[in-house]
Amino acid sequence: MKIKGPLHKSNFERASKPAPLNFELIESMYGEGSFECFSDHSEENFVFSQSRPFDLIELEQLLQAVGWSRRPFRRVRKAIDNSLLKVGLWRHDPKFPRLIGFARCTGDGILEATVWDVAISPTYQGYGFGRKLMSYVVKSIKDMGVKKIVLFADPGVIDFYKSQGWDLEPKGKRCAFWYAS
Ligand SMILES: CC(C)(COP(=O)(O)OP(=O)(O)OC[C@H]1O[C@@H](n2cnc3c(N)ncnc32)[C@H](O)[C@@H]1OP(=O)(O)O)[C@@H](O)C(=O)NCCC(=O)NCCS
Repeated sequence: MKIKGPLHKSNFERASKPAPLNFELIESMYGEGSFECFSDHSEENFVFSQSRPFDLIELEQLLQAVGWSRRPFRRVRKAIDNSLLKVGLWRHDPKFPRLIGFARCTGDGILEATVWDVAISPTYQGYGFGRKLMSYVVKSIKDMGVKKIVLFADPGVIDFYKSQGWDLEPKGKRCAFWYAS
């Protein structure tokens, strides 16, 4: 079900645009390859980065804010370290940038990749950031030469992915899970 309705932020008046950030400032604060992510619906600046380190408490706060349960920090740190790709979306602040979006991906780096933990802070949902985040994640994975990408969507977000060209797993018959007890 689409969330577009009277309260959807894209139905609001367009916000006046902030001055773009200086390239050197972006790289010095957010690391190599980071770049500004523009939104028509906010007067703030946002930056995508694959290299700015994550504060685990801030990351877990973001993931809890979207309704996911807490995970042990040490395991999360290791999972992030072992991930093929981890992308943060930061609301820029010269002193205290805030993590407002996240996604990561695991895989062998050549044949297959799996996307995990896609989240946009509830405060910034509906601004188009989720779509931009996924587009950046998919492009980054494709740039590695990986040909097949999978993800496990919660039932409430299947349309979010379908609208971006993702196919549903045929007949729901080819997936298996194993959980440690
Ligand atoms: C799913 C999520 C990442 C979307 O982020 P977002 O920034 O709000 O999405 P966008 O603003 O980029 O929306 C892009 C489009 O998808 C639609 N959309 C957004 N969330 C949707 C949802 N849950 N179901 C269906 N469509 C959705 C929007 O209406 C928009 O459509 P449009 O292009 O026709 O206007 C975000 O809602 C979120 O973090 N949810 C909680 C965590 C979660 O469920 N993550 C996915 C794990 S599988």
